[in-house]
Amino acid sequence: MCGIVGYIGNLQAASVLLNGLKRLEYRGYDSAGISLLEYGKFENLKKVGKVSVLESMFDEHEFNSTLGIAHTRWATHGEPNDVNAHPHQDNSGKISLVHNGIIENYSSLKAQLMKSGYNFLSETDSEVLAVFIGSLYEKFGDFEKAVRLALMEVRGTFGITVLCSDDPDCLIAARRGSPLIFGVGDGEYIVASDASAIIQYTRSVVYLNDNEMAVIRRNGYTTKTIQNEEIIKQVNQIEFELESIEKGGFEHFMLKEIFEQAKTVKDSMRGRLLPDEGKVRLGGLLPVMEQLRNAKRIIITACGTSWHSALVGEYIIESLAQIPVEVEYASEFRYRNPVILPNDLVIAISQSGETADTLAAIREASQKGATVIGIVNVVGSTIARETQAGIYLHAGPEIGVASTKAFTSQIVVLSLIGIMLGRMRNLSATDGKSLVRELMSLPEKIDRMLENTSSILQIAESYKKNKNFLYLGRGYNFPAALEGALKLKEISYIHAEGYPAAEMKHGPIALIDENMPVVFIATKDEIYEKVISNIEEVSARRGKIIAIATEGDESIKKWAKHVIYIPETIPMFIPILAAIPMQLLAYHIAVKLGRDVDKPRNLAKSVTVE
Ligand code: AGP
Ligand code: GLU
Repeated sequence: MCGIVGYIGNLQAASVLLNGLKRLEYRGYDSAGISLLEYGKFENLKKVGKVSVLESMFDEHEFNSTLGIAHTRWATHGEPNDVNAHPHQDNSGKISLVHNGIIENYSSLKAQLMKSGYNFLSETDSEVLAVFIGSLYEKFGDFEKAVRLALMEVRGTFGITVLCSDDPDCLIAARRGSPLIFGVGDGEYIVASDASAIIQYTRSVVYLNDNEMAVIRRNGYTTKTIQNEEIIKQVNQIEFELESIEKGGFEHFMLKEIFEQAKTVKDSMRGRLLPDEGKVRLGGLLPVMEQLRNAKRIIITACGTSWHSALVGEYIIESLAQIPVEVEYASEFRYRNPVILPNDLVIAISQSGETADTLAAIREASQKGATVIGIVNVVGSTIARETQAGIYLHAGPEIGVASTKAFTSQIVVLSLIGIMLGRMRNLSATDGKSLVRELMSLPEKIDRMLENTSSILQIAESYKKNKNFLYLGRGYNFPAALEGALKLKEISYIHAEGYPAAEMKHGPIALIDENMPVVFIATKDEIYEKVISNIEEVSARRGKIIAIATEGDESIKKWAKHVIYIPETIPMFIPILAAIPMQLLAYHIAVKLGRDVDKPRNLAKSVTVE
């Protein structure tokens, strides 16, 4: 959600900032704005709506500034409108600021400032921070000190970039709980919420940690804590290519990312399989190998789609390693005062590596002495840097708000962990080899599935007007059903519910009639017959059955109005294959309904607020 870009250098700041905002649109937002320091004063353009609306405002303006900040807002305090859009200035007009996050003590700060005679134009918490910095700047006449003192006073989360019109060669960036990095160019620097806004200018980036700030000038920068301790920060290199954040001829990022899954599933295994020994090699877990060997319980914590892959991981790890696994919503785990036992292993799953609840959950677990590892996609993200060890998905940037390739790669990585833990325990070399071999066969199976998806398009056409869907599955396919339902509801806005197929009889079956499409994951596995019984229960009540079935299963046609076939694989890997037709079904229905598929309403790609 929301995004920040800042630029100081020699280029026209306006075009760099607008470019950056476009790269960050996928994060989700409701308004946008830019502030440029032009001949000693701030020129501000800000507007509710899309970045393109803001861009059109530039037609009437000519700017030469080489210093500016920009913002896409995901409103938390004050409705989305022009006044509440960022940037915000202080009363003197000398301070201009953009902010991601929530200033929790903004009310008391605002009251103090109003008592001192300051006034406010917006309803936002962010403007309070701008005015507060301005008041301290008036008092001390030192821009950097004013920013630092203000940030030490505020509670809550922030990612900010701030300018002062008295210092046209200074851009300050700071963060606590909201991602912020900066690119290091040749006499130019670009601050952003993530690397996608930076890569077209430089690959060299510095990641800020919580309570750290950068004071950036054209001839260099210093990094320090907000308590004013200088710190030396490593300069990292962005690993992905620019075209990986382009659509590559697809209509939407989501469709591109669905079709990338043969490659991304393969990349998530690359260099990690030892087929001759039936083992895996996970270099990122080397620092915690002893803890893995001694683990007596595993807690997996995540949100949304990552929570669904965690559920699949629970079944996989318990099956392969016979270690008890609990799956926790991060938002629940962090506030529950969870019991953490010696030898507990906590696994955090997060595509973005910035989800506030998941970040807070791992901090809570670490605080209580657990070994914490991460399964993350975005390299250098906060969760990746705060866990003791971890495994990157190597799925490349996932731009579509609806997670697709991350989900399938997360299950692959969880399978690798299951094999590793299992082979440390009672999983035999023979079983290990067959698991590794089956994993190696998946990319080709995915390629085959994606060769012909026309039947899914027809199903989407038939059911695009339905108001409710049920998604049902058993065993490994129960979490897959949850994920299928989430895909549909989050991009088409149609209500959809995932359920364990056997649970139908305990309530949901009352929903079944001729207007209820029911997606069954009914693949050939040890509980296939049981799922067929559930299908017959639905069929007897005139439910419309859409079955995801195993290639060659002709009998399923007796009950299913539509059948989408997927290649055969072992039960624990079925969710990796079954997810893809459900992703496509959601995609095509949403497109037919004219939805903003890559940026669905109300949603953000990375939920960095609580
Ligand atoms: C999934 O399609 C959603 N975009 C959302 O549920 C997402 O999975 C959730 O916010 C967790 O994000 P993370 O994996 O980046 O932590
Ligand atoms: N809390 C601020 C506001 O509501 C910033 C929200 C965001 O992160 O975009 O304007």
